[in-house]
Amino acid sequence: MMRAFWLTLSIQVAFSYCQYIYGPDPTWNIRSTNDLKSKDFWFHDAQRTLYDKLTTLPNQYLAKNIIFFLGDGMSVPTVTAGRIYDGQQKGIIGERNRLEFEKFDYVGLSKTYCVDKQVSDSACTASAYLSGVKANYHTIGVSADVQLNDCAGAKLPQNRLSSIAAWALRGRKSAGLVTTTRVTHASPAGVYAHTSNRDFESDLDVRDLGQNPSNCPDIAQQLLDEMGQGLRVVLGGGIKKFLPNTMKDVYGNVGERLDGRNLIDEWQQSKAGNARVVFNRTDLLNNNPYDTDYLLGLFNASHLAYNLDDSIDTPSLEEMTEAAIGVLSGNPAGYFLFVEGGRIDHAHHETKAKKAVDETVQFSNAVRKARQLTNPWETLIVVSADHGHTMTINGYPDINNNITGLNSELSDVDNLPYATLSYANGPDYQRFYKSVNGTVERVDLRTLNIGDRNERYPHGVPMSEETHGGGDVAVYANGPWAHLFSGVYEQSTLPHLMGFAACIGPGITYCDLRPKKTYNP
Ligand SMILES: *[C@@H]1O[C@H](CO)[C@@H](O)[C@H](O)[C@H]1NC(C)=O
Ligand SMILES: *[C@@H]1O[C@H](CO)[C@@H](O)[C@H](O)[C@H]1NC(C)=O
Ligand SMILES: *[C@@H]1O[C@H](CO)[C@@H](O)[C@H](O)[C@H]1NC(C)=O
Ligand SMILES: *[C@@H]1O[C@H](CO)[C@@H](O)[C@H](O)[C@H]1NC(C)=O
Ligand SMILES: [Zn+2]
Repeated sequence: MMRAFWLTLSIQVAFSYCQYIYGPDPTWNIRSTNDLKSKDFWFHDAQRTLYDKLTTLPNQYLAKNIIFFLGDGMSVPTVTAGRIYDGQQKGIIGERNRLEFEKFDYVGLSKTYCVDKQVSDSACTASAYLSGVKANYHTIGVSADVQLNDCAGAKLPQNRLSSIAAWALRGRKSAGLVTTTRVTHASPAGVYAHTSNRDFESDLDVRDLGQNPSNCPDIAQQLLDEMGQGLRVVLGGGIKKFLPNTMKDVYGNVGERLDGRNLIDEWQQSKAGNARVVFNRTDLLNNNPYDTDYLLGLFNASHLAYNLDDSIDTPSLEEMTEAAIGVLSGNPAGYFLFVEGGRIDHAHHETKAKKAVDETVQFSNAVRKARQLTNPWETLIVVSADHGHTMTINGYPDINNNITGLNSELSDVDNLPYATLSYANGPDYQRFYKSVNGTVERVDLRTLNIGDRNERYPHGVPMSEETHGGGDVAVYANGPWAHLFSGVYEQSTLPHLMGFAACIGPGITYCDLRPKKTYNP
């Protein structure tokens, strides 16, 4: 301890001396590309990063709380483009900007393939990053012994996986989830559900897919009947999956359940204590989280609207995250919270790159709010993605070129413009390619609306929707035991690392190794 102190002090003295010689620190928020031309700028920048690394000691306290942020489909190029977009919106040099989680001390890479697919989906990856076991494509919360649509197999206790939210509940912590998708969608379902098909969101879906709801419980129902009962906070969309087809929600949309159940009322009636249900942002923000024992917020019949689109009184991911932390922090034993930026993925599938990067910035804002509300000595925050996408950042636009716009270069083959952001595959092929006298030519992108929130970005292979990508995704970690998250590892390692730090779950934990050291100022 003394050695570390003297090392830190001498590093600080050395760096003050450097600053005395070379002038003040370079800032992240530079406004002119001229600053990038200075060799002192780069020297100081690198020295500052070195200093930060030398003075960052591993945090080995017990993680009382865990917040796991999942950017659905948030590939590394999506993060890069999101960072540039965010900076350009703020009028600073976007290349230099940092999203909130890019300030974290430790980064690793997660391998995202599933048991039967080289490129995965959001269902089998949810089993990996929430339950610590890789499984089959399109299945959730069950092992690879369960094939797609194997309803009987999904019921066998030996095939059912237990998620880190269940580990937290068993450890007397609270647990909750927040998402911008339907709360029954694949990623949030990984928190509480066990199903042989991610599309079994309501009993109507089960029937539509040729199965019998009586031996194949739908995902919405599992929020009440199973481990989902224990969740303190559930915020997102998907009202229609919870209401009967004889009933309309507050926005006038009819439910879709065939079994006549109103799962929202059932949820509220089954709770002891203050159980609140809210359907809009106003009610969410007016609710006092500190006297709320259970909170269910459903803000759309289906997914929440994109941030860039119009909607009625919809909370942001940041606002939902704040409400969730408020409710969960009532438990002195701590909590596990899952927060999904779920629509980054949807925008990519539509090749609407501007919406994808904008949703990434919204996601980063939610991470910032969580950092402001928690203490890094007792709260582990992990940020990652389930899988990538096929979006790339094409060469070689000039520095500070509008990231959602056309590249400053023209193609050196057909002399036509191209977009900096584009996809390997996607929908609407005719929008980008035309036949001229029997040969295929590219459409001149100046005749489209590249840069508009609803414009599709160009792609190569024609598909009905753009696919996921198979590249590794980054893992950013901050707080107790964050240093464990560096390196390249299987995605299924993530809950094991989190469980270790918080002394929950079936694996080895910090508390098995030595008397636990809780942060106590
Ligand atoms: C929000 O929902 C409540 C009912 O839950 C309703 O009374 C109120 O009018 C809604 N507010 C807005 C702005 O839609
Ligand atoms: C629900 O989402 C749809 C699609 O984004 C949007 O048009 C609608 O306004 C949203 N509803 C509410 C209540 O915000
Ligand atoms: C197509 O070919 C014809 C005959 O060679 C030529 O007259 C015409 O200009 C061509 N059209 C285009 C759009 O190049
Ligand atoms: C980038 O281009 C789009 C579309 O033309 C525009 O809406 C946006 O404001 C531009 N961004 C910046 C930072 O200039
Ligand atoms: Zn997807």
